[in-house]
Parts: sequence; structure tokens; C-alpha cells
Amino acid sequence: MKKIIFYIIVALLIGGAVFYMTNKSFVLGRVGMSFTNKPVDAATTDSIGNVAKDGKRILVAYYSWGGNTRKLAQSIHRQVGGDIIEIRPVKPYPEGYKATVKVVRQELDSGTLPEINVAKVNMKDYDTILVGYPIWYQREPLVVEKFLRSIDTTGKTILPFATSGGSPIESSVTTISKAAPKAKLGDALLANDKGLVNPWLKKYNLIK
Ligand SMILES: Cc1cc2nc3c(=O)[nH]c(=O)nc-3n(C[C@H](O)[C@H](O)[C@H](O)COP(=O)(O)O)c2cc1C
Repeated sequence: MKKIIFYIIVALLIGGAVFYMTNKSFVLGRVGMSFTNKPVDAATTDSIGNVAKDGKRILVAYYSWGGNTRKLAQSIHRQVGGDIIEIRPVKPYPEGYKATVKVVRQELDSGTLPEINVAKVNMKDYDTILVGYPIWYQREPLVVEKFLRSIDTTGKTILPFATSGGSPIESSVTTISKAAPKAKLGDALLANDKGLVNPWLKKYNLIK
């Protein structure tokens, strides 16, 4: 009898581990991370024409599919001040995770950058652009590449920050540096651990 119970427990543990590995995003979604695309109106997310603290000229520009990066970008913006804009695909991604993964894979394979909707800002107003995004297929989403290619980043300091399901941020730094070759690229922050945000902002004198 004990042996049977032992085997049942082992089977449940293995089954649980296999389920977790194959449905990691689903499980993470259940424990609080967002896994549904619910676009938010620009009127509630964008804020332009602000003077940042200490006269700094800062723009926070981000893309978020499920809301994790939006929360992070908004929290960074509350701390550093300046302007904040959300990058939006003209054609929204599906609401569901699996459908989005499929669409994104096709976009990456086709190599065409999706059209974006983003508030018109004058890049001359900024010295520092904090660029936020979720890691998608190990890199920044194509809408972020599209944004960077559509603005003049010459001489600007770009500080990339991201959230992910566990992947590192490094590959996105390579693709971002190609999309903004004349920018000064600072250290990129993978902010899955929120405790890393303030030391990173302090390093660039964006907060005291
Ligand atoms: C299309 C797609 C691709 C993803 N690719 C990766 C990946 O390669 N590595 C990873 O760690 N997480 C990946 N994720 C998970 C997201 O990076 C993670 O959930 C992020 O926090 C989502 O941020 P958001 O809520 O701002 O969209 C992917 C999610 C989606 C929707």
C-alpha cells in the first residue's frame, strides 16, 4: 500500500513538472503575471510636455502586451518624471498568449516591421530615452525596433529595460544597437527583480 502511495506521489510530481515546463506562461499567469493582451487607451497612459526633475530631458517609451512592462514603465516614470509614451501596434496583437506567439513568429519570419501608433514627440526635447519592452523570442518586440528606426536617436542616451519570463536581456541589446546605431547605449536592465530598478536609475543620476 505504502509503495502504491509512493508511486502515485512520484507520478504526480513528474506530471506537475512536465505541465509546468510545457505551460510555463500559463502557470506564471495564474500566479500573478499578466498573460492576456488588454490594450489601454493612450489618453490614460501617455503624458507629454512635462519637465523632469532637475531639468533633465527624459522620455520613457515602452511597449507592453500584457501589462507587466506598462506597470514597470509607469513606476519608473513616477520616479524620474519627464514624458511617457506607449508604443502601440496599429493592428493589435491577439488577446490570447498562444495566438500572439504564433503571429509574432510569423512576423519575425517575414522580416517586416509592423506599423505603429505612437504619440508624436520632438526628439530634440530629450537627452535620455528609457525604452521598455517585454522580451519576445529573446529580443525586443518588432514594434520597438520600428519605433527606434522611426526616430532620430543621434547622440541620445538609450537605457533599455525589460521584463521576461526568464530570458536574459542581452540579445535585445544587440538588435537595439543596430536599430539605433548613433545612440549612446547604456546598461540594459532586466527588471524581473524590482529591487534592481532603483540602483540602475541611480547609476544614471535619474534619481537620488
Ligand atoms: C509573443 C511572446 C513571446 C515571448 N517570448 C519570451 C522569451 O523569448 N523569453 C522569455 O523569457 N519570455 C518570453 N515571453 C514572456 C514575456 O517576456 C513576459 O511575460 C513579459 O513580462 C510580458 O510583459 P508584458 O506584460 O509587458 O507584455 C514572451 C511572451 C510573448 C507574448
